[in-house]
Amino acid sequence: MSDATTAPKTAPKTYAVKSFGCQMNVYDGDRMGELMAAQGLTQVDPKDADLVVLNTCHIRERATEKVYSDIGRLRKDAGKQGRTPMIAVAGCVAQAEGAEIVRRAKVDVVVGPQAYHNLPDLVAKAARGEAALDTDMPVDLKFGHLPARRRVPPSAFLTVQEGCDKFCTYCVVPYTRGGEVSRSWGQIVDEAKALVDAGARELTLLGQNVNAWTDGARGLHDLIAALDAIPGLARIRYTTSHPNDMTQGLIDAHAQVEKLMPFLHLPVQAGSDRILKAMNRSHSRDSYRRILDRVRAARPDIALSGDFIVGFPGETEADFRETLSLVDAVGYAQAYSFKYSPRPGTPAATMGDQVPEDVMDDRLQRLQAALNRDQAAFNAATVGRTCQVLMERAGKLPGQLIGKSPWLQSVHLVSDAAIGDLVEVTLAEAGANSMLGQRSL
Ligand code: 5AD
Ligand code: SF4
Repeated sequence: MSDATTAPKTAPKTYAVKSFGCQMNVYDGDRMGELMAAQGLTQVDPKDADLVVLNTCHIRERATEKVYSDIGRLRKDAGKQGRTPMIAVAGCVAQAEGAEIVRRAKVDVVVGPQAYHNLPDLVAKAARGEAALDTDMPVDLKFGHLPARRRVPPSAFLTVQEGCDKFCTYCVVPYTRGGEVSRSWGQIVDEAKALVDAGARELTLLGQNVNAWTDGARGLHDLIAALDAIPGLARIRYTTSHPNDMTQGLIDAHAQVEKLMPFLHLPVQAGSDRILKAMNRSHSRDSYRRILDRVRAARPDIALSGDFIVGFPGETEADFRETLSLVDAVGYAQAYSFKYSPRPGTPAATMGDQVPEDVMDDRLQRLQAALNRDQAAFNAATVGRTCQVLMERAGKLPGQLIGKSPWLQSVHLVSDAAIGDLVEVTLAEAGANSMLGQRSL
C-alpha cells in the first residue's frame, strides 16, 4: 500500500528517541536506539535529528492529544531550520491509534510496542515514500530480533514479561500491550549475563505483571535464584507486581536471597472493597493487607510502594476515606497516585457516576499529603542506618554523587567513589525526596 501523503525522504543519518511513561517504555526506547545505532545512525538531540522516535504512553490523561501537539512542535522547530525530520510514533498510542495517526498527523512510521524490532525496515520503507505501519502482536517475541546491548548503566532494566490478562476496568494495557507473555528462561539469563558483563551491578526485572512471569513450572522466584548466582551482579529488583501473583515462593525469596533488595511495589489502587470490585481487581482490601503482612514477616525492613487511583466512577467520600485508612494502616515508603482518567474502549469509561474534576483534585491532594507524610516518616526512620549505596550518576555539587539505597531512596553523597561503585554509607539526614549520606569509615 502506498500513501500519497508520505513524500519520499532521504535515509536518516541521525536519530533521537523520546520515551514517555513507564520504565518498560524507557527499556523499549533504549532498545530502539540500539537498533538504529546498529544501522549506523548516530544519536543526537531531538531538535537536530533526521529521525525522531516518539515512544508514547497511553495510560492516563490526554496522551493522544499530547502526541499530536508534540509532532506539531517538532515539525515547526525543524521547519525554522529548513529541515523535515522523519517522525516515527511508537509505544502504546501507536498501538491504540494505528493508521489514524498517519491520517491525522502524516507521520512517516507507526510501530506498536510488540513490533519495534521491525523499525529499521519501516524506516527504510518510509525513506522510499511507502507507508510504514506495523501494529502486529506476533506470538514470537521481538526480543530475539534485537541487537546486543551496548551502553549499560550500573542499574539496568531487563524486560522479562509483557502484557496483562487482568482487565482492570479502567486500564488500557491489556489492549495496547496484549495478553501476558513471558520471555524464556534461557533468553533472560543470557541477557542478564551480557548486561553484567557490560557493567550492570543491579538489574530491575520488568513486566506489566512481572510476578506472573513463568517458564513451564518455574516462577519469578526461581528466576531470581538463578540471577543471584551471576558473579558481579550485586542487586536484583522487580516491578510491577499484581497482588494475585504474589506467591509464597516469591515472598520467601525476600527472606532468602541476599541480592534481592528490600523493596516491593504492589499497587492496590483503592481501599474500598466496593470500588475494588468495580475495578475488577480480584483482590480485597483485606487480602491485600494479608499479603503485605506475609511480606513483612519475611523481610521486616521492606520498603513498600503502591499505586492509587482517586475518583474512579462511583467513588464516594466514604469510599475515598477507606483508601486513606488503608494508607494509614500500611505506611508506604513511597507511592504513586493518579486521578482517574477515562480510557476509550475500557469498561469504566462508559460507567455512570463519573466523579467531577474538582472532587478528584481535592481527593488527590489529601491522598498525596498522607503519602508524603508517610514517605517522610519512612526516610526519617532510616536515619542512622548503615547500608550499601549503588552510585548511579554525578550530582550538581562538586564531588557529589547520587545513588540508591537498598530501599530505593536517592542518596546524595560527597565522595571520590566512581559511578558503578557500591559504597558503604551511613544515612545522615532525610530530605523531602532524598537522603544525605556519609561514607562510613
Ligand atoms: N486512570 C488513572 N490511572 C490509571 N492507571 C492505569 N490506568 C489508569 C487510568 N485509566 C494507573 C494505575 C496503574 C498505574 C501504572 O497507572 O494506578 O497501576
Ligand atoms: Fe492494567 Fe490492571 Fe493489568 Fe495493571 S493489572 S496492567 S492496572 S489491567
